[in-house]
Amino acid sequence: MAHIDQYIDRIEQFRKDVWDHYRAVGRHDLPWRKTKDPYRIMVSEVMLQQTQVPRVLEKYREFLKAFPNIRALAKAPLSDVLRVWSGMGYNRRGKYLKDAAVEIVKRYDGKLPHDVVSLRALPGIGPYTASAVAIFAFNTPDTLIETNVRTAFIHAFLAPKGVIHPNRRGQTSVKKVSDRDLLPLIAKAAEGQDPRTWHWALMDYGSHLKKLHKNPGRASAHYIRQSKFDGSLRQVRGAILRELHNGACREHTLLQRLNRSKISSLNLDISGRRLDDALAGLARDGMIREEKGQWRIA
Ligand code: ADE
Repeated sequence: MAHIDQYIDRIEQFRKDVWDHYRAVGRHDLPWRKTKDPYRIMVSEVMLQQTQVPRVLEKYREFLKAFPNIRALAKAPLSDVLRVWSGMGYNRRGKYLKDAAVEIVKRYDGKLPHDVVSLRALPGIGPYTASAVAIFAFNTPDTLIETNVRTAFIHAFLAPKGVIHPNRRGQTSVKKVSDRDLLPLIAKAAEGQDPRTWHWALMDYGSHLKKLHKNPGRASAHYIRQSKFDGSLRQVRGAILRELHNGACREHTLLQRLNRSKISSLNLDISGRRLDDALAGLARDGMIREEKGQWRIA
């Protein structure tokens, strides 16, 4: 991308806009912003990866009531964890969170490691979540990129459609903005700011911009539209887990129940083949297992 120097002058104004917005209408009441407990912060960040804030608010409370600390989560049967998780989608995250808790108890005496490299080595913890925990729990001067942060920077610094690249013949072409393009700016803007509060403020600013404009984040090369849920294998997987929470079940019974259940009103006519695929995927992910001809939560 064009060199960062061209944006330096605007960074000061950008910081001011972000802080002004935060002071005026920042989401100061989000429960995961009122705690420094690394466990609670890890739970919230894993939940927030793919689920909207209002839904997470509800589930976060329920989850922490059921599993108030890392040892409670590590000890809990997977079926209990998935039962509380259900309704949030992407159920694998629930399993990963439990696996991470087991690992943290085993390797770190129940205390979350502070450094990003160790955090990243935990099950289900990718670069975003590792940095989010380091920043929000330990106030480490790190940076993170997620959809709201992308939106804030793209809106403030870059052309609405993408980065203008002059080519060799002097013509210009518009390219989608990659995270690599944004990173130097993101790092520069974070310099000298309180890491924890700065990132809260940034997320709120990006989220606010999304409501004002047709998502400027679309110009990002990493923009992902939420894939269609209705009729997806993901929906079938979710429905299977919901059934198995009522007890172990044979495959043909499961097929009958799923086609009779509420989702069939959405015209989700599940074939045996589709059920097979969904069951195989869930088993591969360690979510369910087959025992004596019956499927159950692992
Ligand atoms: N506050 C802290 N982490 C957050 C997130 N991932 N989304 C929204 N608000 C947050």
